[in-house]
Parts: sequence; structure tokens; C-alpha cells
Amino acid sequence: MARKTTQYVCQECGGAHLKWSGRCDACGAWNTLIEEAAPEQTPKGLGSRRGRKIAFVGLDGEPGAAPRRASGIKEFDRACGGGLVPGSALLVGGDPGIGKSTLLLQVSAALAANLSCAYISGEESIDQLRLRAKRLGLDKAPVQLAAATSVRDIAAALDDRQGPDVVVIDSIQTMFVDSLESAPGTVAQVRTSAQELIKIAKKRGFCVLLVGHVTKDGQIAGPKVLEHMVDTVLYFEGDRSHQFRILRSVKNRFGATDEIGVFEMTGAGLAEIANPSSLFLADREANVSGACVFAGIEGTRPLLVEIQALTASTTFAAPRRAVVGWDSGRLAMILAVLESRSGLVLGNSDVYLNVAGGLRITEPAADLTVAAALASSASGVPVAAGTVVFGEVGLSGEVRVVAQMDARLKEAGKLGFTNAIIPKMPGKRRRDKLTGGLEIREILHLSDLLALLRPTAGGGRRSGKQGQRSMDHPSREGASHG
Ligand code: TYD
Ligand code: MG
Repeated sequence: MARKTTQYVCQECGGAHLKWSGRCDACGAWNTLIEEAAPEQTPKGLGSRRGRKIAFVGLDGEPGAAPRRASGIKEFDRACGGGLVPGSALLVGGDPGIGKSTLLLQVSAALAANLSCAYISGEESIDQLRLRAKRLGLDKAPVQLAAATSVRDIAAALDDRQGPDVVVIDSIQTMFVDSLESAPGTVAQVRTSAQELIKIAKKRGFCVLLVGHVTKDGQIAGPKVLEHMVDTVLYFEGDRSHQFRILRSVKNRFGATDEIGVFEMTGAGLAEIANPSSLFLADREANVSGACVFAGIEGTRPLLVEIQALTASTTFAAPRRAVVGWDSGRLAMILAVLESRSGLVLGNSDVYLNVAGGLRITEPAADLTVAAALASSASGVPVAAGTVVFGEVGLSGEVRVVAQMDARLKEAGKLGFTNAIIPKMPGKRRRDKLTGGLEIREILHLSDLLALLRPTAGGGRRSGKQGQRSMDHPSREGASHG
């Protein structure tokens, strides 16, 4: 029987299938299987030929590696764990048009001050690259430019003793290896091109930065297939309608993950945001019901951001729940806990939840903030001005301690916040030390939170309609002082 010479490869996860189907069995993505030439069969097992014995060494010893190469763009260096490691491979993924090329051109220009940097583009012509450099004010930086797509030609230039220290490949999906039959952008091409480039990087000790486009429709292979091959994976994310861009590290063999770098896309390229909290809180209005400030931690850095909720009576048979920047499953859980454990029923209301500024939050510590925003929107009572809220909510409505409470409170204090609603901290002595100058309100259960946001007749806090603004606090508070 003739051996099958083609296979169907998922462009999302790289899973290979013998038969075409609409859905990839491996990752569940739809319409991502593309026919590719099957790899040549390798002989099974080792055979009789004996290999050379490998030598073992102890864990103790001097690491011979050269120091990290910091670009001086602090937000970038932070995301990759303090700078580029020589001989390593780094993947920068993100939606098309989010700013990957801009970021890497800026990074190469910054590195070029001390190192030899090459920028190889398969997407733009030399003229286009020069135009962009001029726009960014980087046209004098000694970056070596090339427009090429053949990995064989690129390898010939890089596999050299006098080769560069840092190489940017923009993008890996445009690269091709001529010995493969599949088209550029398919899993086989992307994987082989990356393999070849990484091999040379390890051999010659330069750092290779691969740009990878993320696609939703599976037209070109996603960076997922490369994640295990590289040392560091950074995702450049953000909403194209917002100017904030977040460089998030999701894998790092040489540093911590979940670290973020924050940038702003301006007319002259990406600008670093050294104090993101003040930026995320900048357009906030004081004393509006349904808004609550969350003191979060992104990587090692505390980050304050506003969470907004809107509840409105529904006109649909099944009420709408729309979430931007948070997990919709987690919202459903908070709504269920609010209803069954503290009697706040939102079953007949549409619920909209938004994390301001286009940030995406994954921490469970935002549970209590979301609950506060929801309760405040439902009751029309604004969360007291200058208050931050954080804490994890359990299924029985209990409020749980979260990590790094002191860092969160300190950041809030720095930005001019005066009050905090937080989980009960263990131990009184510890507590006094860690308040960061804020007046702390510790709560044990969601109902304690709801009690703070209940409309009171002639009480200290005014009740009001949704979205009502306080007249006695027309100015912004909190962040604008920071
Ligand atoms: P780009 O870096 O080309 O994105 P990617 O490489 O991820 O596809 O960025 C393109 C977008 O950035 C484009 O929509 C225009 C915008 N931009 C600015 O706003 N300011 C600038 O200085 C530059 C160079 C680009
Ligand atoms: Mg680009």
C-alpha cells in the first residue's frame, strides 16, 4: 500500500491528523486544518550504532553566560526579566497592527547604542522601514536593516563569527525554508524556520527576537506552535481603540512570568508608562455609583485600575451579561454568590462590567471589587471617595486574604487614596505595620460589604440614582493627586 504523503495540520496548535475535519481534535479550534506534506518517516528506535557517552557535571559551578543585555527601555526590560539573555530566543506575539514592529524597532535602536543589532523584515521594504524609523526619530541609530524571507540566506548572514548580537525577525510567519513544500505561514514552515534560526542563535550566542502574529481565523500559524521552542514568550496586547499597550510575559526560562510592561502608543511611537496606575485612573469621575478602584498586582508591580459595573432592568428573556477585561465565568460566580449568600438579586437585570483603560485582569483578588461595583450600581450608592477594594470571594460569600496586601495598600496610599475595604488580615500586630497610611475596613463576608453600600435615609452617604454624580465633589480625587 502506498504511504500517505500528506497530513492535515492544525494551524493553531500544530496537531497533525490523517483526515481532514472541521474541528481540530487536539485543541478544539474550528476550521484550522490545512493539508501539508507529511514529514519523512524516520527509522524507529536507535538501531545498533552506539552513541558517544555524555559527561555529567554537578549543579555547583560558575555560570559562564554573559550578562543580560538591557535595552534601557525599562518597561521592555522588565517584561523580559531584566534584559535579553545572550543565545536565547524570544517570541513577541500579538494581533496584527498592535505595534510589535514599532516596539522592536525602538528596542533594536536602543540596543544598537552598545551592541550590533540586525533587523530583518519580511513584511516591509527597506524604504518603509526607513520611513518608520524617521517617524520614530531613530533614523540615526546604527541598526543593520535587511528585507529578506529566505531562512537559508538569513542563516548565511548570521552564522558568522562577526555576526550581530541581537537579531529581530519580523515576522516568523513570512519566513520560509526552501526545502519544504508547504507555503510560508503554515505550521511546518513556521516551525522549521524558527528551529533553524534558534539553532544558529544558540551556536553563535546572539539573541533572536521573533515576531509572531496571532490570528483568530487560523489563516496563518499562530505563535502557539512556537511557545515551547523559545525561552521567553511575550504577548503584546491592548485594545486598538485605546492607546495603552501591555507587554505581558507568559513564559520566561530566565525570569518571572506575569510581569508586564506598559506603553502608550503615541504619534511618535511607543512611550513608556512608568506609573501605570495614575494613567489607568486618570479619567475617573468621583462619586459615581457602580465604579470601584481595584488595587491589583501585575507581576511584581502593584497596579490600580477602576472597575465599572452597570446593572439595568432587562428587556430580554435571558438578561445580558457583557464583560470587558475580566472573566465572564467569574462574573457569573460573583452574581450567584451575591444572590444566594447576601440576597442581592440581579437575575432580572442586564449586567455590564468593564475594566477601564483596556486592561485585562486575571486575579481573583478583584472579586470583592467587582462585587462592590455591582452592589453600588444596584443600590445607586457610590463607593466612598478615595477607597480601594480588593479580596477574593469564596462560594459561601466569605472574603479571603490575597497575596501582597501590603504592596497593594502602599501603592494606593502613594496615589492619594485614604480608605481601603479589604479581607481581615491575620494578626493585629502585622496589620498595624501594613496599612500604608490608609484607614482600613476589614470585612469577613460579602454582606458586610453590602451593608456599606446600602442606601441610608439621611445617613452619612447619599443615596441616589444610578450614575448620579455628587455635587460636592466635582473634581477627581485619588489619582489626580498622585
Ligand atoms: P506596527 O508596529 O506596524 O504593528 P504590528 O507590527 O504589530 O503589526 O504598528 C502599526 C500601528 O501603530 C498602526 O496602526 C499605526 C500605529 N503607529 C502609531 O500610532 N504611531 C507610530 O509612531 C507608529 C510607528 C505606528
Ligand atoms: Mg509589523
